[in-house]
Amino acid sequence: MTTTSSTGDHPPAGRRAPGRAGDHLGQVIVSANELAAKVAELGARITTDYAPLTDDAPLVLVGVLKGAFVFLSDLARHLDLPVEIEFMAVSSYGSATRTSGVVRIVKDLDTDLYGRHVLLVEDIIDSGLTLRYLRKNLAVRQPASLEVCALLVRDGLQRVDPSLKYEGFRIPPDFVVGYGLDHTEQYRNLPDIRTYLESDQI
Ligand code: IMP
Ligand code: MG
Repeated sequence: MTTTSSTGDHPPAGRRAPGRAGDHLGQVIVSANELAAKVAELGARITTDYAPLTDDAPLVLVGVLKGAFVFLSDLARHLDLPVEIEFMAVSSYGSATRTSGVVRIVKDLDTDLYGRHVLLVEDIIDSGLTLRYLRKNLAVRQPASLEVCALLVRDGLQRVDPSLKYEGFRIPPDFVVGYGLDHTEQYRNLPDIRTYLESDQI
């Protein structure tokens, strides 16, 4: 069997991915190797923190669809803990590349959070408005604890302090895709996180 590196095969910054609809892909912001290392580090920290809290009941990981699905699946495999995996889907009204802050729950959890230790797993905190809404919504269900693990935080733009317990990378203002993050539902399957170039930036 031939194996290929998951990181070395991508074209350099701003170059077209050959044979693909890659015209809009800009530079790699976080490589697959950096993602793997960070997810392992976060997994180890979360394991240490929650080991004493999961004797009675598993930790509940709540992934926010769709963007967090890749991060959550990798992170969960680095948790040496009993866990349950739940998903919520939210949709925020607004343009393709910015949130309005008005959030609607499209799919709710299948389980009761009362008295449970809950870790909300998010792909990216941009304005922080989605997270603010979700925190309030989940807190009403009276979990034993509620913390947040976000892979990316867009530097400096938060209108609300998200007070994250676990954070992967701070990134610049550019819109990014890959590793679960999309632009109009595309590019979620890219192994790296890359900037998305609008037509006038190409
Ligand atoms: P917030 O409410 O402004 O913090 O928006 C958070 C949500 O907007 C994220 O969970 C993503 O779904 C989406 N989002 C924000 N920035 C990006 C980006 O650069 N790429 C893809 N999705 C993004
Ligand atoms: Mg999201």
